[in-house]
Amino acid sequence: MIETERLIVRPWREADREPFFAMACDPEVMRYLLPLNTRAESDERIDSLMAMQAEHGHCFWAVERREDGRFLGFCGVVIPREPIWEHEIGWRLARDAWGQGYAYEAAQASLDWAWRHIDTPSIMAITNIENTRSWGLMERLGMRRYPEEDFEHPSVPVGDPLRPHILYRIHRPQ
Ligand SMILES: CC(C)(COP(=O)(O)OP(=O)(O)OC[C@H]1O[C@@H](n2cnc3c(N)ncnc32)[C@H](O)[C@@H]1OP(=O)(O)O)[C@@H](O)C(=O)NCCC(=O)NCCS
Repeated sequence: MIETERLIVRPWREADREPFFAMACDPEVMRYLLPLNTRAESDERIDSLMAMQAEHGHCFWAVERREDGRFLGFCGVVIPREPIWEHEIGWRLARDAWGQGYAYEAAQASLDWAWRHIDTPSIMAITNIENTRSWGLMERLGMRRYPEEDFEHPSVPVGDPLRPHILYRIHRPQ
């Protein structure tokens, strides 16, 4: 569990399932993401993050506001996996939690944790180029874009405007 000034970044709990699915039902939150169409699909995503936590000690963690205990979304670092095979930082917050620096605060804390606990020289992040809020956050975190590594996300159907992805990376501070 990580505590920041305003947030708790922690492993998932059963009570997170409902507010996580509520986010999956918000078209604005999901605008640049593959849909989670049912509660079962949403729960499966949490199950796989819980399994990663159990096996590796980290995942995209739940983000809770300290002030009132509210579940705001997720942020954290996942293990290397398809299609890039590098440690990846990612984030997703409920719409009304945007614009307050919460994602930055959670992401900075996740990176700090990762440099201390994960043996990796760098961490990357990927997004669709239209997702300016997400790559804006990557830039605020000091991540750098690698345009030569733009790629088509294999999980997104060919021809879908969400398929082209850009990649940012940050190296372990010296
Ligand atoms: C991507 C996402 C997490 C970014 O959230 P965010 O709130 O825009 O990012 P930050 O936490 O860095 O907050 C920055 C904003 O908070 C404002 N802010 C307010 N108080 C702040 C504070 N104390 N510290 C920092 N910023 C603060 C900044 O001015 C900035 O405002 P702006 O967006 O109007 O310019 C969010 O848009 C999201 O969940 N999107 C949907 C899911 C998604 O697409 N995920 C990414 C998949 S690749």
